[in-house]
Order: sequence, then structure tokens, then C-alpha cells
Amino acid sequence: MKILGIETSCDETSMAVLEVDEKKKVKVLANVISSQVKIHAKYGGVYPALAAREHAKNIDKVLKLTLKEAGLKSVEEIDLIAVTKGPGLAVALIVGITFAKTLAWKYKKSIVGVNHLEGHIYSNWLPLQDSNSGLLTLDSRLFPALCLIVSGGHTELVLMKGHGKYKILGETQDDAAGEAFDKIARMLELGYPGGPLISQEAEKFGKSGIPPTLDPRLFAREFSSGCIPDLPRPMINSKNFDFSFSGLKTAVLYLVRKLVQQYPIAEIRPAVAYEAQQAIVDVLVSKTLRAAKDYQVKSVLLSGGVSANQLLRETLEKKISEELKEVNFFKPLMAYTTDNAAMIALAGYFNYAKSKEKTDFSWKSVAVDANLRI
Ligand code: KG4
Ligand code: ZN
Repeated sequence: MKILGIETSCDETSMAVLEVDEKKKVKVLANVISSQVKIHAKYGGVYPALAAREHAKNIDKVLKLTLKEAGLKSVEEIDLIAVTKGPGLAVALIVGITFAKTLAWKYKKSIVGVNHLEGHIYSNWLPLQDSNSGLLTLDSRLFPALCLIVSGGHTELVLMKGHGKYKILGETQDDAAGEAFDKIARMLELGYPGGPLISQEAEKFGKSGIPPTLDPRLFAREFSSGCIPDLPRPMINSKNFDFSFSGLKTAVLYLVRKLVQQYPIAEIRPAVAYEAQQAIVDVLVSKTLRAAKDYQVKSVLLSGGVSANQLLRETLEKKISEELKEVNFFKPLMAYTTDNAAMIALAGYFNYAKSKEKTDFSWKSVAVDANLRI
């Protein structure tokens, strides 16, 4: 069975073709991502109307490229279309959905609407493109699983009892983790998207400590321990599994405002980025471990754009192996951490396989749901 995935919920126009055989082995035949990051960078975030216009401009080209990469001549050879129906920017989602529905109608194909967050969860089971590794790990012995979904729009801890069976344990009360990275990057005049740029700066601090041009005594006065600024870890000790990152963002804002009076911004960036990244990772890891223990899960699945963060990947893996020896830890391959259509195709396949007899998969069945929850 060949599945065409279509994703336009934010600023990537992406299409993928997945092949699933009778033994449920999955192969990624194509995964094309046309990113608008450069276009949005000057606004410091995603500009919705512009995102929609770019999706509309590129979507046809992305389909052609995807079919070519997958070695297919036409959509005729596809068995199922899977498209993101939400959550995301309504104006951007509409472009992908309208395109997908038109293909489903024209070629008389089944179509399934996919929750973008469910797509992120399934990114954990995607093999490298063109490799043959299968769905071997997609096994009932993994459940209950705890999913930490961390992206630009979401920060959620979700208990997954089986395929399609989810319960939200906690979520952010304000900014998402990725949004915090993006906003802190903007305060440090680093650009967009902020996550990778903050990590790069943090690494400089890790290597060199205080920049040599600064007087360490002066610098240390602003920073409490070991010349690293002391930032809050919001809600790290709260009893629930919710998150909040707006207080951290405000603390960074005040710290940066104070420091730039004395130092050039380029010189304070590494230390501030180091501590801000550490604060976000500390909160995410601490709450995930506590939820994993409380709910006695068999596995932990990391996903979403922020799952590309090396410190988060490594810290979570290390803590789980130290404190929860029986628990399996999964993280998506780097290629599938940020938005992509391969994950949408895989989640779509599972939704379709689960209820193909009972559900309407005609082009009329899919509609935008910008605020969809998992
Ligand atoms: O999942 P995603 O591609 O889009 C949404 O669904 O939101 O996530 C994008 C987010 C951005 O906020 C970006 O800054 C963050 O993921 N991100 C990272 C890293 N790479 C991307 N955050 C921290 N470290 C990274 N290496
Ligand atoms: Zn996403």
C-alpha cells in the first residue's frame, strides 16, 4: 500500500510517499520539505497570510518532486492520501486540505485527515529514507507509553494506551517550549527559528566559558553560580504535569536588558543561551520522568521540533537509563524531528487501518480543525 502524506500546518510545505507491505514493513520512498523559514525569518516568527500564499505557490511543485523521488508517474499509483487537518494555522491548513481533497476527488482515492500532534508521535517509527527497517518496534508491549511532544506551538505530556488512544496529562499554560526558544533567540538578536541558534551559542559557552574580552569579576557579579546566570525553572516542582515558560522568558528579558548596558550583546549571548537552554531542558526532563514513574509506563516517546535539541535528547535518554531501567526510550531520527509529511502519512495509515470498514474516507470527510486536540 502506498500512502501520500501532505503537511501544510505551519511554514513547511511537505509531501511524502510511504510504502507499507503485508508484513507491515514501512519504507519512506520520498519525503520532500519545502521550507519557508527564510521568508519568515525577518518577522521573527511565522506570518500566517504569507505562509498560506507560499504553500499555494509551491504545493504543485512539491507534489511533482515527491512523485519523482518516489519513482511514481502519477497519483493514480497511490492508495491512500493522508493530510494534516489540525492543529495549526487555519489559512495554511486550508491550502493542504483543499489540495488533498481535490486529488482524492479527481483520482477517486481514500483520504484521511490526520492530527499533526499524532503525526509527531508516529515520527518515532519512521525509518531512514529508502532503508528497509520495518514497524518491528510498533508493538503492544510498548504501551502504555508516555509521549513528550515539544514543538513551536505545543508542549504536551500525553499518555498513549494504544494506537489512537490518548490522554493529555499536562500541557503548557502559556508559551510552548519551541516558542520560548524562538522568543529568547529574538531577545538575543539571533534570528529565527531560535532553537538551533540558541544551541549553537550555548555550545560556545560550554567550550570557552566567559568570553576573554570580559572582566570575569564584573561579569560574575551579574551571575550567581560559576558565572552562569541563574534563571528560573518554572513549575518544575508543581504537582501537576503542566508547563509554563512565560516567566522564564520575562526573566531572560530583564537579564538581557541589564547586561547589554555593560556588555556587547554578542559577548553575553553564549552564557544566557546556555542557561536558558538548560532551564527549558531541566523542566521538560524532570516532569517527563515524574509522569513516567507515576503512570508506570513501558516507554517514553520524544517528538516535535524541539526534539532536535541534542541536550534534551541526551539528558532524557541518560536520566531514563539511570532512573527507569525497564523503560524504553524512543526519539525520532533527526530528519523527522521538525514538520514533515512522512509522519503524517504513517499516522494516517494507522488511522485508516484501524477503522477502514466503519469510517467514511471520501473527499467529503475531511475538514480543517485549527484547534484540534489529541
Ligand atoms: O514541530 P515543529 O517543526 O513545528 C511546529 O509544529 O511548531 O517545531 C518548530 C520548533 C521551533 O520553535 C524551533 O525553534 C524548534 O522547533 N526547534 C528547536 C531545535 N530545532 C527546532 N528547539 C530547540 N533546539 C533545536 N535544535
Ligand atoms: Zn509540528
